[in-house]
Amino acid sequence: MFHFTLNFMANTMKNSYKIAWLPGDGIGVEVLEATKIVLDKLNFNAEYIHGDIGWEFWRTEGDALPVRTIELLQSVDAAMFGAITSKPVKAAEEELIPSLQGKGLVYRSPIVRMRQLFDLYICLRPTKAYKGNPLNYKDDIDIVVFRENTEDLYSGVEFNTIPQELANTLKKLSKPFEKFASLNNDEYAISCKINTIKGSERIIRAAFEYAKKHKRRKVTIIHKANVVRATDGLFLETGKKVAQDYPEIQFDEANVDAITMWLLKNPNNYDILVAPNLYGDIISDLCAQMVGGLGFACSGNIGVNLGVFEPTHGSAPKYAGQYKVNPIATILAAKMMLEWLGEIEMAQKIENAVAKTIMDGKVRTYDMGGKNSTLEMAEEIAQHIE
Ligand code: NAI
Ligand code: MG
Repeated sequence: MFHFTLNFMANTMKNSYKIAWLPGDGIGVEVLEATKIVLDKLNFNAEYIHGDIGWEFWRTEGDALPVRTIELLQSVDAAMFGAITSKPVKAAEEELIPSLQGKGLVYRSPIVRMRQLFDLYICLRPTKAYKGNPLNYKDDIDIVVFRENTEDLYSGVEFNTIPQELANTLKKLSKPFEKFASLNNDEYAISCKINTIKGSERIIRAAFEYAKKHKRRKVTIIHKANVVRATDGLFLETGKKVAQDYPEIQFDEANVDAITMWLLKNPNNYDILVAPNLYGDIISDLCAQMVGGLGFACSGNIGVNLGVFEPTHGSAPKYAGQYKVNPIATILAAKMMLEWLGEIEMAQKIENAVAKTIMDGKVRTYDMGGKNSTLEMAEEIAQHIE
């Protein structure tokens, strides 16, 4: 079995940090501005370096993640990312400035590219029901999702029109393919789900390491190995092997469909979840909604040398410029960043301040039924930083 040295969350503290600051589009700008208020209150010693990312750079340069931003990311300790806007292929092409039109430029999601370029293989999504949050589905939910971030159906190996060579090969090698073989090449599409032993092992090991470090009781592997036998079978079998190295942690497995029901019925039965990319994407949204929705859902994209921390939500164009969305998701993402950098005390201060603010219930953004602004929420949290 593949083994590698894991320096997951084992960073050493520094006197000063370089942080790439990537606001992006729409409310991304507002939630990052709010988060800065909290980081400044902590006296976190960092140089924040702005990085260009998002729709404007697609439109005017044909690249939503310009090379200068990639170079910036190569030189920093971590990054805070707001959100980007993306649009379907046709709209993307139409909005390019005239001099870039018709050049065959193809829009690529900058967040997916960051994950691939820097091998940010862990997508870490903690979901916790803070006491006093009127949006909690049930009390005491505290689930941490580990989503594999670079493979699976997000591998990018896709065909809209099937090359004849591929069709011939599939016909030769796969019995079930026979039912598609009579179709024209443009009458079907193929997206490849590619899962490797290395990719599966490192995300599952990261989940167990996290469980060990944070004294959590159980790791549940999510799959659909009874139907998607090759890839999910590989994921599950790899998981069983990794689990043997952690006898002190309970190992559990669940089908992706079944767990959506169980999560709603008994969320308190779950602790750490680990899943291939697509299932992890879906399940983490379900978990987020149980603890207040997108205003509370934070996310870390973590590799060996770089962590990019962000709220799970997008640029929410309908609220852009209004300073009304909830910055807690992004403030909790900053907490995750501090944790990853080894600044545990500062991370804990954010955690306590967020918990206190939610418990008090005096300041609430619209999603929580309140009227306070994005920046008022951040200022309230900053006030509770001790
Ligand atoms: P979205 O996440 O931007 O917003 C959906 C809805 O969720 C909002 O209209 C709002 O009602 C609520 N919401 C989002 N963030 C909130 C917050 N902080 N506080 C309170 N409520 C909040 O998703 P949508 O509208 O589907 O996509 C908008 C754009 O964002 C699209 O261009 C999409 O491609 C992009 N996107 C970018 C992501 C990223 O940057 N990682 C992730 C998801 C979408
Ligand atoms: Mg998603």
